[in-house]
Amino acid sequence: MKRLVILISGRGSNMEAIVKACAAEGWPATVAAVISNRPDAGGLQFAAERGIATAVVDHKAYANREDFDAELARVIDGFAPDLVVLAGFMRILTPGFTARYARRMLNIHPSLLPAFTGLHTHERALEMGCKVAGATVHFVTAELDHGAIVMQGVVPVKPGDDAKSLAARVLTVEHRIYPQAVRWFAEDALIWTGECVAHRDGAAQQLLLS
Ligand code: GRF
Repeated sequence: MKRLVILISGRGSNMEAIVKACAAEGWPATVAAVISNRPDAGGLQFAAERGIATAVVDHKAYANREDFDAELARVIDGFAPDLVVLAGFMRILTPGFTARYARRMLNIHPSLLPAFTGLHTHERALEMGCKVAGATVHFVTAELDHGAIVMQGVVPVKPGDDAKSLAARVLTVEHRIYPQAVRWFAEDALIWTGECVAHRDGAAQQLLLS
């Protein structure tokens, strides 16, 4: 049984999708804890209601990133996770922290990486006239929004889209590809070749929605 610790900063809809899929599909995994850097993160309530341990490590209480990351790692490690799942966790992590969880920490980013790392991905995709958009689940490295890609979900950009409508469409694929990627990790189905990761049996690592 793999132990998952999920980190959130806000509403936690990706966390919710993972918790529900894990329970409904009977993964060989358990969500050991949900941790937030914000005491008011909406997702904490959902986790608590499901009987999942919750914790808050408020970044505002720490003088610098190193001190915050050290305390965050201490709290995470208290739950002995096999995998750390960043789900809308809005903090830049120090290289020491990312090295500690190398190949056992996933993130979801709302763009088709390597395009549009960082913030405001949907606005930037629209400004560029992109015809498709999407989301990427990747292993976390020291470089922001880089690291081996586990799965990508693609949606069309439609006439009349604004950042809000595009974000909503992308979120629907996020809720499908993130549980899938975490499940593969839990099942030991991800095989590394150098810096790339692939599904053991060649399962499609992309989801295309029209
Ligand atoms: C998602 O769009 C995710 O890709 C990004 O932050 C958002 C978090 O949403 N990293 P939620 O908290 O999972 O609802």
